[in-house]
Amino acid sequence: MTEIIDSFKKIAIEISEAIKTKDTGKVETQNSSGDIQAKLDVISDEIVEKHLLNLPSVKEIISEEKESAVSKNEGKYLVAYDPLDGSSLIDVDLSVGTIFGIYENGYNGENIVASGYIVYGPRVELVVARDIVEMFRLNEKTKEFEFVKEINLDKKGKILGPGGTQKYWYPYHKKMIDDLFMEGYRLRYSGGMVPDLHQILLKGGGLFAYPGAEDKPKGKLRKLFEVFPFAYVYKKAGGFAIDGENDLLELETKHPHDTTPCFFGSEYEIKRVKEVYKGQK
Ligand code: AHG
Ligand code: MN
Ligand code: MN
Repeated sequence: MTEIIDSFKKIAIEISEAIKTKDTGKVETQNSSGDIQAKLDVISDEIVEKHLLNLPSVKEIISEEKESAVSKNEGKYLVAYDPLDGSSLIDVDLSVGTIFGIYENGYNGENIVASGYIVYGPRVELVVARDIVEMFRLNEKTKEFEFVKEINLDKKGKILGPGGTQKYWYPYHKKMIDDLFMEGYRLRYSGGMVPDLHQILLKGGGLFAYPGAEDKPKGKLRKLFEVFPFAYVYKKAGGFAIDGENDLLELETKHPHDTTPCFFGSEYEIKRVKEVYKGQK
C-alpha cells in the first residue's frame, strides 16, 4: 500500500510538469464515458499506468480513460483512478486533480482500502486517506512532499457546491439548495470536484452535491474513479458521503464506468439531504 501512495507522489510531479508544459488541446477520440478527451487526459493516463504497472503490489489498474482493466499475474491491489479530473478547466487555467482508489478483491464501495487525490493548483497538494486523512504539499525546491496536517471535518460548514444543470434539477433538490443558501451558505463551485471537495474539507465542512436529475438520473460522477475514493476520504475525515439515501460505500458496481448521484459533506448538511431525499425515489 505504501509503495502505491509513494508512487502517486512521483506521478504528481510528472503530471504537474505535463500540465505546465504540454499542449492544452483536445484529441479526436472519446473516452468510455463519452467525454471528449484532452491531450493531457491521455498523457496523464499514460504517466499513472507506467508507474503503477511497475509495482509488485499492484494486481490490476483501471482508469476513467480506459475501456477495461489492465491485469498482471502478481500483486494484491486493484487501483482505479481518474488521471486528470476537471480537464475541461485546463484551457481556462483553473485547478485540476488526480483521484485514486485502492481496492482489494473487487470494485464495490466496501472493497476500498485507501484512497487519495492530488490537487494541481498554485501549489501541488496530496491528500491520502488510510485510518486518518493526511495532507501533504510538494516542496518545489526539494521535490519532496511535506506533511502539512491531518484533516478533520466539523459538524457543520458554511459553503455549498451544487453540481449539475439547474434546469434539470428535481424540484425537491432545487428547494433544498435554495433553502441552504437562504440559511447563509455561500456558493463555492469551480466545476472541478477535486478543488471543490478539497475546499470543503479544508474549510471545515459544507456540502458538495452532484445529484441525479432529469437529464442524468444517475448523475455524472463515476463510482470507481471519483465517487468511492472521495467517499472514503470524507468518511475517514469524520464526514459523510451518500447517494441521497444510502452510504456511497455500500453501493455495488456492475460496470467500471457506472455513475451515481452523490453528496459529500459534514454531519448537519448530510442530515438535511437525507431528510429531503427520503421517499423521493
Ligand atoms: P472529468 O474532467 O474527469 O471528466 O470530470 C469532471 C467532473 C468533476 O470534476 C466535476 O465536478 C464535474 O465533472 C462537473 O460537471 P459539469 O460539467 O456537469 O459541471
Ligand atoms: Mn473526473
Ligand atoms: Mn478525468
